[in-house]
Amino acid sequence: PGSRVLVVGSINVDQTVRTQRIPAPGETVTGSGPEINPGGKGANQAVAAARLGATVAMVGAVGRDAYAEVATRELRAAGVDLTHLLVTDGPCGMAFITVDDHGENVIVVTPGANAHVTAARIETLRSTLEQADLVVLQGEIPPAAIEKAIELARSPVLLNLAPAIELALHRLLAVDTLVVNETEGRIVLARLSQGAASGMEDEAVVAALVDHGIRSLVMTRGSRGALVADASGITPVASPTVDVVDTTGAGDAFVGALASALANGDTLVDAAKLAVRVGAYACTGQGAQPSYPTSIDQLPGGDAQG
Ligand code: RIB
Ligand code: NA
Repeated sequence: PGSRVLVVGSINVDQTVRTQRIPAPGETVTGSGPEINPGGKGANQAVAAARLGATVAMVGAVGRDAYAEVATRELRAAGVDLTHLLVTDGPCGMAFITVDDHGENVIVVTPGANAHVTAARIETLRSTLEQADLVVLQGEIPPAAIEKAIELARSPVLLNLAPAIELALHRLLAVDTLVVNETEGRIVLARLSQGAASGMEDEAVVAALVDHGIRSLVMTRGSRGALVADASGITPVASPTVDVVDTTGAGDAFVGALASALANGDTLVDAAKLAVRVGAYACTGQGAQPSYPTSIDQLPGGDAQG
């Protein structure tokens, strides 16, 4: 059945409104919507990977409310194994998203059921963790649960530290591949070096992260593509240019694609070359999961690689 990708992470319902511009504090603006879609960084990444053909299982939680159906809709449609989905009392995780005319967003997340994905819960899933071929994590479940998953994994761990929550450093350094954006990368570096990482070029940031013991990493840089780094050096990967409609979840599309390619045996650089195209594609449609590709034939930039 091929390699098994296990995503341990968040499942949300995204409520998105569009406005011409993001309102300032104290300001009221008129917008359109809301649009209600499945989201959450973990679920987004699971859906992205599964749609590209990966065999994916997801560990996560939803509430016992009417939104649970919405939250898991695309996971189910994409064939993600939800055997270990926890259904808890209380609400689903929700994300309240405002998108402006440039496709930029601001997001407030209420974790809801995601707070129930605890270290104790992960401990009960020890054999599932041990049997995965690639474990994919993000920063939207409790830190102790992420640390426990890193501890129990017997296979490569891909950690997308979004948001850049604080993890025990020995667990962070046990991760095989870290994925961060420009901001998250600087936060992690500041922690590892106990100093400020502002004012540094991206290349210097990723080099310093490797110097501090991060085994391999990918820094995503929006329209500027990504930097792939490990002890052997830094490889820039360019992104195809697209007309941006909504960047929500584009980073998750990137990570899901990266996971599917790594599970397929691709090198990290080759995986990143696919992932920038999937991330770019996701920017061209509204929402997160609804904008993810179902086939690599849809992707922009096919001949720009090499
Ligand atoms: O990364 C995008 C995601 O972040 C959204 O789907 C939202 O649910 C928030 O978790
Ligand atoms: Na999108």
